[in-house]
Amino acid sequence: MKQIVSVCFAIFILLNPWLQVLSQNAEPCDSNINFNDIVNFDTTAMFCESVWDTADFVLRFTKAGPELWSFLLSASNTNSWVGIGFSPSGQMVGSSAMVGWIYQNGTSVIKQYYLQAQDVDKVTPDAGDLDVVNNSTLVFLQSNRIHLAFQLSTAQPREKMVYAVGPYGVLPTDNDGLKLSLHRDKHTASLDYTTGRSQAIDSPYTGVRRTHGALNMIGWGILMPIGAIAARYFRQWDPIWFYSHTAIQIFSFLFGLVGFILGFVVKGLINARVTHHKNLGIVILILACLQVMALFIRPKKGSKPRKYWNLYHHNAGRIMIIFAVSNIFYGIQLGMEGPSWYATYAVILAIMVVVAIVLEIRLWKQR
Ligand SMILES: *[C@@H]1O[C@H](CO)[C@@H](O)[C@H](O)[C@H]1NC(C)=O
Ligand SMILES: *[C@@H]1O[C@H](CO)[C@@H](O)[C@H](O)[C@H]1NC(C)=O
Ligand SMILES: *[C@@H]1O[C@H](CO)[C@@H](O)[C@H](O)[C@H]1NC(C)=O
Repeated sequence: MKQIVSVCFAIFILLNPWLQVLSQNAEPCDSNINFNDIVNFDTTAMFCESVWDTADFVLRFTKAGPELWSFLLSASNTNSWVGIGFSPSGQMVGSSAMVGWIYQNGTSVIKQYYLQAQDVDKVTPDAGDLDVVNNSTLVFLQSNRIHLAFQLSTAQPREKMVYAVGPYGVLPTDNDGLKLSLHRDKHTASLDYTTGRSQAIDSPYTGVRRTHGALNMIGWGILMPIGAIAARYFRQWDPIWFYSHTAIQIFSFLFGLVGFILGFVVKGLINARVTHHKNLGIVILILACLQVMALFIRPKKGSKPRKYWNLYHHNAGRIMIIFAVSNIFYGIQLGMEGPSWYATYAVILAIMVVVAIVLEIRLWKQR
């Protein structure tokens, strides 16, 4: 049952990144927007840097006095809370953040939060060690982007920044003490206050996480469909098609298996909440094991049971491919890898689909 829920979820996930990309409207730093009529401090000569592409965060900031810094953060308005944290360590925990949002009725809120621990109950409003200047804070919408303005009274703000965005359409309310719901996505980067440049900080275990992703992408997502293509379209070259199909699928299985095991390592290391991704991965591995076992118990060619065996083997393979593709896109989203991983796999997938369509047409003509 859990697995079925995961599968439905995966199909939704498959579409989600494309919807997100389509709904973004960038506000480039070179656009000449005047905020001075809106904001309580001078915004004319600020550094401007795109600090987080995925969520479209743009940060403007400047030193406004000996112990005064002005900040103006803007992001796509997705009816979520947005936050900018100043972190001593580069981790979320221990940082103090400015968080803002706008209710449907137009009321806006900006507050300092202290992130004592990962748990949402330990993220407290009206706490933290930022010395926020009275009357400098403001949240407003402009060009369908949410903007957070505030000034900090400090000689030098912290360089390690944590940016985060809340779930779609879920805003903190007075009823639950303005508790923040768990972020939908986050990004850590260091900010150079003299050059204005922002540099992403890789979270720990990025290497092992990416290796897991790459191995499963190659195994289940690339080699397996290629092996299927070999079996379906190159039958005229007997027995070459059979040996190449078997060889490719064995490699696919080995890559997938190692990737699967690494997935559990990653889950343990970063304590990830990945129930659907994990369940779908288990379904894929079970199907893969059955496919490998089916190889050894296949009935003789031309016999009646062989017909049913073929039906089973082919359809299990098709289902595996659909699950694998969904889980790969979903995994890229969970890993918060951004557009480059999506694009890379999407291009590879598109090429395989085009090749399959061409070969399918050829097959139909031959029949
Ligand atoms: C707008 O909605 C929020 C949350 O529902 C509420 O706290 C606030 O008082 C409302 N503001 C106005 C002006 O109605
Ligand atoms: C800031 O404003 C609050 C109330 O609005 C006031 O109690 C506090 O003294 C002010 N602080 C400064 C430094 O002006
Ligand atoms: C806060 O800013 C507004 C607008 O600039 C101004 O009218 C108001 O007097 C300020 N209040 C304080 C306490 O500085």
